[in-house]
Amino acid sequence: MSVKSEVSNWKYSTFLENKNYKFSRNDILNILTEEDIDEAYKIISDWENYAPTPLLLLDKLSTELKLKRIFYKDESKRFHLKSFKALGGSYAVEKITKGNKEIVISTATAGNHGRSVAWGSKKLGLKCKIFISEYVSEARAEAMRGFGADVIRVKGNYEDSLNECIKQSNQNNWQIVQDVAWKNYMLVPKLTMAGYSVMMKEISEQINNQKVSHIILQAGVGGMAAAMVAGLARYLNHIPQIIIVEPDSAACVLASINTGKVEKISIEKESIMGGMSCGEVSLVPWQILKKSVNYCVTVSDDYISKTIKYLANCELSYEKIIGGECSTPGIISLIGLCNDAKIRKKINLNEDSNVLLFGCEGDADEELYQKLLNS
Ligand SMILES: Cc1ncc(COP(=O)(O)O)c(C=O)c1O
Repeated sequence: MSVKSEVSNWKYSTFLENKNYKFSRNDILNILTEEDIDEAYKIISDWENYAPTPLLLLDKLSTELKLKRIFYKDESKRFHLKSFKALGGSYAVEKITKGNKEIVISTATAGNHGRSVAWGSKKLGLKCKIFISEYVSEARAEAMRGFGADVIRVKGNYEDSLNECIKQSNQNNWQIVQDVAWKNYMLVPKLTMAGYSVMMKEISEQINNQKVSHIILQAGVGGMAAAMVAGLARYLNHIPQIIIVEPDSAACVLASINTGKVEKISIEKESIMGGMSCGEVSLVPWQILKKSVNYCVTVSDDYISKTIKYLANCELSYEKIIGGECSTPGIISLIGLCNDAKIRKKINLNEDSNVLLFGCEGDADEELYQKLLNS
Protein backbone atom coordinates (compact mmCIF):
# COMPACT_ATOMS: atom_id res chain seq x y z
CA MET A 1 0.00 0.00 0.00
CA SER A 2 1.36 3.47 -0.84
CA VAL A 3 1.88 6.14 1.79
CA LYS A 4 -0.68 8.24 -0.03
CA SER A 5 -3.48 5.75 0.42
CA GLU A 6 -2.39 4.95 3.96
CA VAL A 7 -2.37 8.51 5.25
CA SER A 8 -5.48 9.66 3.41
CA ASN A 9 -7.63 8.78 6.42
CA TRP A 10 -5.33 10.21 9.12
CA LYS A 11 -7.05 12.69 11.36
CA TYR A 12 -6.02 15.26 13.91
CA SER A 13 -8.09 15.02 17.11
CA THR A 14 -8.81 18.59 18.22
CA PHE A 15 -8.35 21.94 16.51
CA LEU A 16 -8.67 25.34 18.15
CA GLU A 17 -8.28 28.89 16.89
CA ASN A 18 -6.75 31.42 19.27
CA LYS A 19 -9.27 34.21 19.71
CA ASN A 20 -6.66 36.34 21.48
CA TYR A 21 -4.14 36.28 18.60
CA LYS A 22 -2.24 39.55 18.33
CA PHE A 23 1.35 39.01 17.26
CA SER A 24 3.72 41.66 18.57
CA ARG A 25 7.45 41.44 17.93
CA ASN A 26 8.06 44.03 20.63
CA ASP A 27 6.10 42.21 23.31
CA ILE A 28 7.83 38.93 22.49
CA LEU A 29 11.31 40.42 22.43
CA ASN A 30 10.64 42.14 25.73
CA ILE A 31 10.33 38.68 27.28
CA LEU A 32 13.21 36.91 25.51
CA THR A 33 15.34 39.83 24.41
CA GLU A 34 17.50 40.25 21.30
CA GLU A 35 20.51 40.36 23.63
CA ASP A 36 19.50 37.01 25.22
CA ILE A 37 19.07 35.48 21.78
CA ASP A 38 22.21 36.93 20.24
CA GLU A 39 24.40 36.01 23.20
CA ALA A 40 23.19 32.40 23.09
CA TYR A 41 24.11 32.13 19.43
CA LYS A 42 27.49 33.74 20.00
CA ILE A 43 28.39 31.34 22.82
CA ILE A 44 26.89 28.11 21.43
CA SER A 45 28.26 28.57 17.91
CA ASP A 46 31.67 28.74 19.53
CA TRP A 47 31.33 25.34 21.26
CA GLU A 48 33.59 22.55 20.05
CA ASN A 49 31.98 20.53 17.24
CA TYR A 50 29.16 23.04 16.76
CA ALA A 51 27.52 22.78 13.35
CA PRO A 52 24.03 23.77 12.21
CA THR A 53 21.71 20.77 11.96
CA PRO A 54 20.34 20.05 8.46
CA LEU A 55 17.16 21.64 7.16
CA LEU A 56 15.76 18.82 5.02
CA LEU A 57 12.87 18.76 2.58
CA LEU A 58 10.03 16.25 2.89
CA ASP A 59 9.64 16.38 -0.89
CA LYS A 60 7.60 13.22 -1.27
CA LEU A 61 5.13 14.29 1.41
CA SER A 62 4.74 17.83 0.02
CA THR A 63 3.89 16.33 -3.37
CA GLU A 64 1.29 14.03 -1.79
CA LEU A 65 -0.25 16.85 0.23
CA LYS A 66 -0.08 19.34 -2.65
CA LEU A 67 2.00 21.85 -0.72
CA LYS A 68 4.95 23.77 -2.12
CA ARG A 69 7.57 22.70 0.39
CA ILE A 70 7.85 21.03 3.76
CA PHE A 71 11.03 21.94 5.62
CA TYR A 72 12.13 19.55 8.35
CA LYS A 73 14.72 20.71 10.87
CA ASP A 74 16.61 17.54 11.71
CA GLU A 75 17.67 17.74 15.35
CA SER A 76 18.75 14.10 15.41
CA LYS A 77 22.10 15.54 14.37
CA ARG A 78 22.44 18.04 17.26
CA PHE A 79 25.93 17.45 18.62
CA HIS A 80 25.91 13.79 19.63
CA LEU A 81 22.92 14.24 21.93
CA LYS A 82 20.30 13.61 19.25
CA SER A 83 17.83 16.36 20.23
CA PHE A 84 17.42 20.14 20.25
CA LYS A 85 17.52 19.96 24.03
CA ALA A 86 21.32 19.86 23.73
CA LEU A 87 21.15 23.61 23.08
CA GLY A 88 19.19 24.57 26.19
CA GLY A 89 20.18 22.89 29.44
CA SER A 90 23.91 22.85 28.77
CA TYR A 91 23.86 26.55 27.83
CA ALA A 92 21.97 27.39 31.04
CA VAL A 93 24.52 25.43 33.09
CA GLU A 94 27.36 27.42 31.54
CA LYS A 95 25.66 30.80 32.04
CA ILE A 96 24.39 30.23 35.57
CA THR A 97 27.62 28.79 37.04
CA LYS A 98 29.89 31.48 35.54
CA GLY A 99 33.01 29.38 35.91
CA ASN A 100 32.40 28.37 39.56
CA LYS A 101 33.52 24.73 39.80
CA GLU A 102 32.10 24.17 43.30
CA ILE A 103 28.46 24.32 42.23
CA VAL A 104 26.49 21.05 42.12
CA ILE A 105 23.89 21.05 39.35
CA SER A 106 20.49 19.33 39.62
CA THR A 107 17.48 18.88 37.39
CA ALA A 108 14.36 16.78 36.75
CA THR A 109 13.79 15.46 33.28
CA ALA A 110 11.86 13.29 30.86
CA GLY A 111 15.23 12.48 29.29
CA ASN A 112 16.64 14.89 26.75
CA HIS A 113 16.85 17.96 28.96
CA GLY A 114 18.71 15.94 31.59
CA ARG A 115 21.11 14.63 28.99
CA SER A 116 21.88 18.20 27.98
CA VAL A 117 22.38 19.32 31.59
CA ALA A 118 24.60 16.29 32.31
CA TRP A 119 26.64 16.97 29.18
CA GLY A 120 27.00 20.67 30.03
CA SER A 121 28.03 19.82 33.61
CA LYS A 122 30.60 17.29 32.42
CA LYS A 123 32.11 19.79 29.97
CA LEU A 124 32.61 22.21 32.88
CA GLY A 125 33.74 19.57 35.41
CA LEU A 126 30.65 20.00 37.64
CA LYS A 127 28.81 17.36 39.68
CA CYS A 128 25.28 16.71 38.49
CA LYS A 129 22.18 15.09 40.05
CA ILE A 130 19.34 14.09 37.78
CA PHE A 131 15.84 13.14 38.94
CA ILE A 132 13.69 10.96 36.70
CA SER A 133 10.22 9.50 37.07
CA GLU A 134 9.26 5.85 36.77
CA TYR A 135 8.28 6.49 33.12
CA VAL A 136 11.78 7.41 31.94
CA SER A 137 13.46 4.43 30.30
CA GLU A 138 16.67 2.87 31.57
CA ALA A 139 18.21 3.61 28.16
CA ARG A 140 17.71 7.33 28.78
CA ALA A 141 19.00 7.01 32.36
CA GLU A 142 22.09 5.19 31.11
CA ALA A 143 22.80 7.95 28.57
CA MET A 144 22.85 10.49 31.42
CA ARG A 145 25.06 8.29 33.61
CA GLY A 146 27.34 8.14 30.59
CA PHE A 147 27.97 11.86 31.13
CA GLY A 148 28.88 11.22 34.77
CA ALA A 149 25.55 12.26 36.33
CA ASP A 150 24.01 10.65 39.41
CA VAL A 151 20.57 9.52 38.27
CA ILE A 152 17.90 9.34 40.97
CA ARG A 153 14.69 7.54 40.10
CA VAL A 154 11.53 8.82 41.81
CA LYS A 155 8.21 7.02 42.15
CA GLY A 156 5.43 8.72 40.19
CA ASN A 157 5.40 11.02 37.18
CA TYR A 158 7.49 13.95 35.94
CA GLU A 159 5.94 16.34 38.43
CA ASP A 160 6.87 14.03 41.30
CA SER A 161 10.46 13.90 40.04
CA LEU A 162 10.54 17.72 39.88
CA ASN A 163 9.16 18.06 43.40
CA GLU A 164 11.80 15.66 44.73
CA CYS A 165 14.50 17.53 42.81
CA ILE A 166 13.42 20.85 44.36
CA LYS A 167 13.25 19.31 47.84
CA GLN A 168 16.69 17.68 47.75
CA SER A 169 18.26 20.69 46.00
CA ASN A 170 17.01 23.03 48.73
CA GLN A 171 18.32 20.69 51.42
CA ASN A 172 21.75 20.34 49.80
CA ASN A 173 22.19 23.75 48.22
CA TRP A 174 22.35 22.39 44.67
CA GLN A 175 21.74 24.71 41.71
CA ILE A 176 18.59 23.63 39.88
CA VAL A 177 18.81 23.97 36.10
CA GLN A 178 15.21 23.43 35.05
CA ASP A 179 13.56 24.12 31.70
CA VAL A 180 10.24 24.90 33.42
CA ALA A 181 9.58 28.30 35.00
CA TRP A 182 7.62 28.96 38.18
CA LYS A 183 7.15 31.97 40.40
CA ASN A 184 10.60 33.42 41.23
CA TYR A 185 12.31 30.88 38.96
CA MET A 186 12.47 32.52 35.54
CA LEU A 187 16.13 33.13 34.71
CA VAL A 188 17.24 29.56 34.00
CA PRO A 189 14.20 28.68 31.86
CA LYS A 190 14.82 31.87 29.87
CA LEU A 191 18.46 30.90 29.32
CA THR A 192 17.29 27.47 28.19
CA MET A 193 14.96 29.04 25.66
CA ALA A 194 17.68 31.40 24.47
CA GLY A 195 19.76 28.30 23.77
CA TYR A 196 16.95 26.71 21.74
CA SER A 197 16.60 29.89 19.65
CA VAL A 198 19.85 28.96 17.90
CA MET A 199 17.67 26.62 15.79
CA MET A 200 15.79 29.58 14.34
CA LYS A 201 18.99 31.49 13.59
CA GLU A 202 20.18 28.50 11.57
CA ILE A 203 16.83 28.13 9.82
CA SER A 204 16.73 31.82 8.90
CA GLU A 205 19.98 31.28 7.01
CA GLN A 206 19.06 27.87 5.59
CA ILE A 207 15.74 28.91 4.02
CA ASN A 208 17.56 31.33 1.80
CA ASN A 209 14.91 34.07 1.64
CA GLN A 210 12.05 31.66 0.99
CA LYS A 211 8.93 32.63 2.94
CA VAL A 212 7.71 30.16 5.53
CA SER A 213 3.91 30.29 5.50
CA HIS A 214 3.16 27.88 8.38
CA ILE A 215 5.19 26.62 11.29
CA ILE A 216 4.10 23.68 13.42
CA LEU A 217 5.66 23.59 16.86
CA GLN A 218 5.55 20.70 19.31
CA ALA A 219 4.86 21.64 22.91
CA GLY A 220 5.48 19.99 26.22
CA VAL A 221 5.72 22.88 28.67
CA GLY A 222 6.04 25.21 25.67
CA GLY A 223 9.70 26.22 26.03
CA MET A 224 10.79 25.06 22.60
CA ALA A 225 7.72 26.51 20.91
CA ALA A 226 8.07 29.90 22.60
CA ALA A 227 11.78 30.01 21.85
CA MET A 228 11.00 29.44 18.16
CA VAL A 229 8.39 32.20 18.25
CA ALA A 230 10.98 34.54 19.77
CA GLY A 231 13.43 33.37 17.10
CA LEU A 232 10.89 34.22 14.39
CA ALA A 233 10.40 37.64 15.89
CA ARG A 234 14.17 38.15 15.97
CA TYR A 235 15.22 36.68 12.62
CA LEU A 236 12.37 36.52 10.09
CA ASN A 237 10.80 39.38 8.15
CA HIS A 238 7.62 37.48 7.45
CA ILE A 239 5.65 35.97 10.34
CA PRO A 240 4.12 32.60 9.42
CA GLN A 241 0.93 31.15 10.85
CA ILE A 242 1.93 29.49 14.09
CA ILE A 243 0.40 26.15 15.03
CA ILE A 244 1.06 24.30 18.30
CA VAL A 245 0.78 20.52 18.33
CA GLU A 246 0.39 18.43 21.48
CA PRO A 247 -0.53 14.86 22.39
CA ASP A 248 -4.28 14.36 22.98
CA SER A 249 -3.54 13.31 26.52
CA ALA A 250 -1.43 16.35 27.45
CA ALA A 251 -2.85 19.36 25.61
CA CYS A 252 -2.05 21.96 28.25
CA VAL A 253 -1.25 24.75 25.79
CA LEU A 254 -4.50 24.17 23.93
CA ALA A 255 -6.46 24.22 27.20
CA SER A 256 -4.78 27.49 28.18
CA ILE A 257 -5.25 29.14 24.79
CA ASN A 258 -8.90 28.11 25.01
CA THR A 259 -9.54 30.05 28.21
CA GLY A 260 -6.82 32.69 27.87
CA LYS A 261 -5.14 31.72 31.13
CA VAL A 262 -2.81 28.98 32.35
CA GLU A 263 -4.79 25.79 32.86
CA LYS A 264 -3.44 22.73 34.58
CA ILE A 265 -4.66 19.48 33.13
CA SER A 266 -4.43 16.06 34.67
CA ILE A 267 -2.76 13.47 32.49
CA GLU A 268 -4.78 10.27 32.59
CA LYS A 269 -2.44 8.32 30.31
CA GLU A 270 1.18 9.15 29.49
CA SER A 271 1.75 9.71 25.77
CA ILE A 272 4.48 7.76 23.98
CA MET A 273 5.79 11.25 23.21
CA GLY A 274 7.25 11.37 26.72
CA GLY A 275 8.99 14.73 26.35
CA MET A 276 5.66 16.32 25.46
CA SER A 277 3.61 14.67 28.18
CA CYS A 278 3.25 17.79 30.35
CA GLY A 279 0.22 19.00 32.29
CA GLU A 280 0.95 22.72 32.57
CA VAL A 281 2.48 25.31 30.29
CA SER A 282 5.52 27.02 31.79
CA LEU A 283 5.16 30.70 32.77
CA VAL A 284 7.75 32.34 30.52
CA PRO A 285 6.63 30.46 27.39
CA TRP A 286 3.02 31.26 28.20
CA GLN A 287 3.75 35.00 28.15
CA ILE A 288 5.01 34.56 24.59
CA LEU A 289 2.57 31.95 23.29
CA LYS A 290 -0.73 33.36 24.51
CA LYS A 291 -1.00 36.00 21.78
CA SER A 292 1.37 34.63 19.13
CA VAL A 293 -0.18 31.26 18.44
CA ASN A 294 -2.78 31.13 15.68
CA TYR A 295 -4.00 27.59 16.17
CA CYS A 296 -3.60 24.57 18.43
CA VAL A 297 -4.03 20.99 17.31
CA THR A 298 -3.76 17.66 19.06
CA VAL A 299 -2.87 14.21 17.75
CA SER A 300 -3.21 10.68 19.07
CA ASP A 301 -0.33 8.27 19.60
CA ASP A 302 -1.79 5.92 16.98
CA TYR A 303 0.22 7.23 14.01
CA ILE A 304 3.62 7.58 15.69
CA SER A 305 5.12 4.23 14.81
CA LYS A 306 4.01 4.49 11.14
CA THR A 307 5.52 7.96 10.85
CA ILE A 308 8.83 6.80 12.31
CA LYS A 309 8.91 4.02 9.71
CA TYR A 310 8.07 6.38 6.84
CA LEU A 311 10.92 8.66 7.87
CA ALA A 312 13.35 5.76 8.14
CA ASN A 313 12.26 4.21 4.85
CA CYS A 314 12.53 7.37 2.71
CA GLU A 315 8.78 7.47 2.13
CA LEU A 316 8.42 11.17 2.95
CA SER A 317 11.77 12.42 1.69
CA TYR A 318 14.56 11.25 -0.57
CA GLU A 319 16.90 10.65 2.34
CA LYS A 320 16.57 8.41 5.35
CA ILE A 321 15.63 10.32 8.48
CA ILE A 322 15.98 9.05 12.03
CA GLY A 323 13.07 10.69 13.83
CA GLY A 324 12.09 9.67 17.34
CA GLU A 325 8.62 9.79 18.85
CA CYS A 326 8.60 13.57 19.45
CA SER A 327 9.62 14.19 15.83
CA THR A 328 6.38 12.78 14.51
CA PRO A 329 3.50 15.05 15.67
CA GLY A 330 4.32 17.91 13.29
CA ILE A 331 4.03 15.51 10.35
CA ILE A 332 0.95 13.76 11.73
CA SER A 333 -0.90 17.01 12.40
CA LEU A 334 0.01 18.43 9.00
CA ILE A 335 -1.39 15.34 7.29
CA GLY A 336 -4.53 15.52 9.45
CA LEU A 337 -5.05 19.22 8.75
CA CYS A 338 -4.55 18.73 5.00
CA ASN A 339 -7.04 15.85 4.98
CA ASP A 340 -9.74 18.14 6.36
CA ALA A 341 -10.83 20.24 3.37
CA LYS A 342 -12.56 22.87 5.49
CA ILE A 343 -9.61 23.44 7.79
CA ARG A 344 -7.16 23.25 4.92
CA LYS A 345 -8.98 26.13 3.28
CA LYS A 346 -9.42 28.08 6.50
CA ILE A 347 -5.72 28.08 7.33
CA ASN A 348 -4.58 28.47 3.72
CA LEU A 349 -2.66 25.27 3.28
CA ASN A 350 -2.23 25.17 -0.51
CA GLU A 351 0.24 24.82 -3.42
CA ASP A 352 1.99 28.02 -2.32
CA SER A 353 2.55 26.90 1.26
CA ASN A 354 6.01 26.42 2.73
CA VAL A 355 5.55 24.57 6.00
CA LEU A 356 8.26 24.33 8.62
CA LEU A 357 8.34 21.25 10.87
CA PHE A 358 10.67 20.24 13.66
CA GLY A 359 12.28 16.84 13.90
CA CYS A 360 12.99 17.52 17.56
CA GLU A 361 14.85 14.30 18.29
CA GLY A 362 16.43 11.27 16.69
CA ASP A 363 16.70 7.89 18.37
CA ALA A 364 17.47 9.55 21.70
CA ASP A 365 15.76 6.60 23.37
CA GLU A 366 17.25 3.85 21.22
CA GLU A 367 15.17 1.05 22.75
CA LEU A 368 11.88 2.83 22.22
CA TYR A 369 12.93 3.88 18.73
CA GLN A 370 13.69 0.29 17.73
CA LYS A 371 10.45 -0.91 19.27
CA LEU A 372 8.38 1.67 17.36
CA LEU A 373 10.34 1.11 14.15
CA ASN A 374 9.84 -2.64 14.25
CA SER A 375 6.30 -2.86 15.61
C1 LIG B 1 12.19 15.35 22.87
C2 LIG B 1 11.34 16.48 23.28
N1 LIG B 1 11.23 16.80 24.55
C3 LIG B 1 10.46 17.82 24.93
C4 LIG B 1 9.74 18.56 24.03
C5 LIG B 1 8.89 19.65 24.54
O1 LIG B 1 9.63 20.81 24.76
P1 LIG B 1 9.07 21.85 25.78
O2 LIG B 1 8.85 21.14 27.08
O3 LIG B 1 10.11 22.92 25.84
O4 LIG B 1 7.77 22.34 25.23
C6 LIG B 1 9.85 18.24 22.71
C7 LIG B 1 9.15 18.95 21.70
O5 LIG B 1 8.21 19.61 21.87
C8 LIG B 1 10.67 17.17 22.32
O6 LIG B 1 10.81 16.83 21.06
